[in-house]
Amino acid sequence: MPIDGVLRKYDWTLSRGYLSPDGYNKSGIFVNGQFPGPTIEANWGDWIEVTVHNNIIGDDAEGTAIHWHGLTQRNTQEFDGVPSITQCPIAPGATFTYRFQADLYGTTFWHSHYSAQWTAGVHGAFIIHGPKHVPYDEDLGPILVGDYYHKDYFTVLEAAASDSPDFDVYVPSSDNSLINGKANYNCSMASDNATCHSNAGLAKFRFRQGKSHRLRLINGGAAALVHFSIDNHRLQVIAHDMTPLVPYEVDYVTLGAGQRTDVVVQAVGASDSAYWMRSTISMNCSAARTQQGMGIVLYDSAPEEALPQSERSPAATAADEKSFLCQNVRYKTPSPDPLRLTTPLISTPPASIPSTTITVNVTLATNDTGHHVWLLNNVTQWANYNRPLLGLASAENYTGLLDPVWNVYDLGSNKTIRIVMNTDYQSAHPMHLHGHQFAVLSEGLGPFNGSIDPAMLANPPRRDVHMMPRYGHLVIQFEADNPGAWSYHCHIAWHSAMGYTVNILERPDEIRGGRIADALKHTCSAWDAYTQQHVVDQIDSGI
Ligand code: C2O
Repeated sequence: MPIDGVLRKYDWTLSRGYLSPDGYNKSGIFVNGQFPGPTIEANWGDWIEVTVHNNIIGDDAEGTAIHWHGLTQRNTQEFDGVPSITQCPIAPGATFTYRFQADLYGTTFWHSHYSAQWTAGVHGAFIIHGPKHVPYDEDLGPILVGDYYHKDYFTVLEAAASDSPDFDVYVPSSDNSLINGKANYNCSMASDNATCHSNAGLAKFRFRQGKSHRLRLINGGAAALVHFSIDNHRLQVIAHDMTPLVPYEVDYVTLGAGQRTDVVVQAVGASDSAYWMRSTISMNCSAARTQQGMGIVLYDSAPEEALPQSERSPAATAADEKSFLCQNVRYKTPSPDPLRLTTPLISTPPASIPSTTITVNVTLATNDTGHHVWLLNNVTQWANYNRPLLGLASAENYTGLLDPVWNVYDLGSNKTIRIVMNTDYQSAHPMHLHGHQFAVLSEGLGPFNGSIDPAMLANPPRRDVHMMPRYGHLVIQFEADNPGAWSYHCHIAWHSAMGYTVNILERPDEIRGGRIADALKHTCSAWDAYTQQHVVDQIDSGI
């Protein structure tokens, strides 16, 4: 990582408001009034300082905390932004400044990690420029895709946890599918009489004929697995999450919630042409009332209001049929390639025998109050906002202080960690690890049988979110090179809300010291004071 001494400052205020990104007027929580939130842009090695003012006050006050998805936060663990793990929530009316380094490069996003608050609008793109390993002419910037809900997030959460009929594979159905915060909505589908107009407009992108264009795809949605494609164009994949890859071509890219893929697209059309860009929600793997998110690619001389004539490519239809297990394979017609063919540009072969292995068996259950909960080795994680794990672990003798419902796995000084996750249940899960990029060693139908295909040990895919297939398993491995308290959780907002989180304590002996304690004191004294006066309506796991 280059050391350039540059500091980039951002000043954000979170407040409630009403916006109609797809024509349907709904309440949300926005950063500086914007949806999606502001894009952070930096160079690899820059320092970034974001001052967050929590103006979610009044009758519907809420805490908040902002997470910088995919960054490792090496030596700045206290700024990872997970309430109950690395900080107390920022209290209503309070301010907190995050300060961390752009320690990886590529495409990512930031989002609130307080309950499912990010789905209310508190998320945005995060671009870190670094070395190019594939040439291209134009950078079209971030393209946020994903599902979108019209009800306010708290109402959706209540439905997610309960036995509501508005339910499919234990996620509530989304209302729309957005590209860069835009979509048209068929207002006759609205279930209430909110203000709605049907031609909000689509996101548009300009291609220059004969040139190559980099697109930075980010699934910033709440839950859905999406297939991204552009009619009549092939996509050259150059990075997953923030791992540069040996480039390969596909017809469409699959992104689970929280995943990113960088692609280079050759502009092969005529200079006055227009094509549909599609973000198609997989109906096998998600629950949605609107499947198709649309955007428009306009070539050089195509007028701004040109409408594409292209038809949905057969490839996009095939994607749905082939994603039965909801995996991250390489989608090429006529048949997808196995995962092991996806290789990082820089090979870092994982240890064939880890120092320790954690096995987590996952299932869904209904608790004594009739609410759905995920059980991870029989524990459904629940956060205590007043007692962040990192703060406890940075003090001596913390072991007796860990509550079993925090679902903490203390890895001590182990060097290489393998996590085996099995599920016998019908839903797939985009699994995200904080503080690391992990190697994917095994995935597939059925529980892990204990043996790793030697081909996966040579140069396996590395990323920070990977799909665990339904009725299947996912085995990941990482080096314990980053002391801290890190969550490993399903990135479906409604699933982490229902307790789908394991918390890793990595080399706790090395996270002592005043710096961490000082940062935690800042958020915790304001939060403790707030919670002495107010009851926090925590209906979910909290993260
Ligand atoms: Cu993108 Cu724990 O999150």
